[in-house]
Amino acid sequence: MRLKIETASPGSTVVAGLTALVVGLPFDRSADDLGVPAVVAERLMAESRRVNFKAELGETVYAQGEGEQAWFALIGSGVSPRATSYRRVGSAVVKLARTLRVQSAVVRGTFIADRARYLAEGLALTGYAFDRYKNRTESERARLLSVVTIAGDETLAPAVKVGLETAESVCTARDLANEHPGRCTPEFLAEQARELAARYGFEATIRDEHQLIAEGFNLIMAVGQGSAQKPRLIHLTYRPAGAVKQRIVLVGKGVTYDSGGYSMKPAANQVNMHLDMGGAAAVLGAADAVGRLKPAGVEVHFIVPTVENLVSSNAFKLNEIVKAYNGATVEILNTDAEGRLILADALAYATKLEPDAIIDLATLTGACVVALGEETAGVFSNDNTLVSSFLDAAAAADESMWRMPLTERLDGALKSDFADMKNIGGKTAGAITAALFLKRFVGDTPWIHIDIAGPAMTEAEWEYINKGGTGFGVASLSEFVTRAGA
Ligand code: BES
Ligand code: MN
Ligand code: ZN
Repeated sequence: MRLKIETASPGSTVVAGLTALVVGLPFDRSADDLGVPAVVAERLMAESRRVNFKAELGETVYAQGEGEQAWFALIGSGVSPRATSYRRVGSAVVKLARTLRVQSAVVRGTFIADRARYLAEGLALTGYAFDRYKNRTESERARLLSVVTIAGDETLAPAVKVGLETAESVCTARDLANEHPGRCTPEFLAEQARELAARYGFEATIRDEHQLIAEGFNLIMAVGQGSAQKPRLIHLTYRPAGAVKQRIVLVGKGVTYDSGGYSMKPAANQVNMHLDMGGAAAVLGAADAVGRLKPAGVEVHFIVPTVENLVSSNAFKLNEIVKAYNGATVEILNTDAEGRLILADALAYATKLEPDAIIDLATLTGACVVALGEETAGVFSNDNTLVSSFLDAAAAADESMWRMPLTERLDGALKSDFADMKNIGGKTAGAITAALFLKRFVGDTPWIHIDIAGPAMTEAEWEYINKGGTGFGVASLSEFVTRAGA
């Protein structure tokens, strides 16, 4: 579900289940300053003293109101918070409203434009739930939070709009990722891409298995050949209204189910492997953001190779040698190292567009999660200038990313006895050898590879990051693309 988020002038009386007052640090207000009925203010102050409320970021304290305004709360915003921290303020409001089981909430505070943007983002991202398959009774529905109002004058509206559009695109990616693998197949992703293209006026070229065979996308075909659901290669193009300063290609790994193939994953490791299309979700989410925000000066291509990695009498086998789209030969020594195979073909195809930059996102290696944890993506690049501007955009989007090395000596680990390379490296540095494999397919094109195996999915909800597919990457891509054309 999506939460409805509105703005309304502070003067207008809004009847709500919860009135949340955002307060900063140091917290030295008296009951008179709170601007709520005296009896409620006294309750809030008493409760604040009781729990030693300090107004730290996301800290909450609440008390019962009178009449229709059932609850009042103080929500801390911490000491001189960064604008993006207001996502966590929004998150705290939604969580409290859910705890109190109210249907609506109003947020009051002093929000300059930037803060309002991130407050709206935090509300919308935390308000997201993948609950399409949950049957709910009438009375359960009546207890769901459905609308939050930000109290502020109309000057906030444009900033709030940017926040809500960005959040909506992140939720588009979450919806794609969370869709169960009985429904989310390569053709399903292709259909979703066609819908985005129709909605925003993008060009769409979607190659089916026949075209993929005819044009030599043999690695994509090899990975997908074990499934009755045939591979697709999605390619959407956004062209800005005016002149083009930069051409950027975004590539996302779209493995809609990764069983590992004949190098099969144990069952416990297959759980959540429908989320192995998190890169594809991020790229299609970014397409949604670009369609909404229509950035100037930048031409953007969205490319998604998508397959199911299954076993059958048709599935690809160990020791097979497959010729990639660029002519290089690859010996398959692990069918579970499938992401790099489909990306190799897609990256070689992307270079033909002669872009200024290629950025790929992939739930590529468990090794990257071991190295950096579930919160942080590993970033690899052959271009220092490009990667530093990308990391700036990621920081502004509050997504945790960390640069990793493309250690040249490790490239030797990809040597094959019978083909140009094999698809796995040695025992160590699995995230790096995977990146080095991809590097062989981008030539001299400035390129960034982002291993999102950790942050693309989570089983532990955190602030405005939900359980399941997180939509990680959308906010950074949207920020980067917007800056690139400016
Ligand atoms: N999709 C997995 C990587 C993954 C693991 C993503 C856990 C999210 C959570 C990928 O296709 C894979 O299986 N990688 C192998 C590579 C190995 C066989 C060289 C891995 O990481 O074990
Ligand atoms: Mn795999
Ligand atoms: Zn995979």
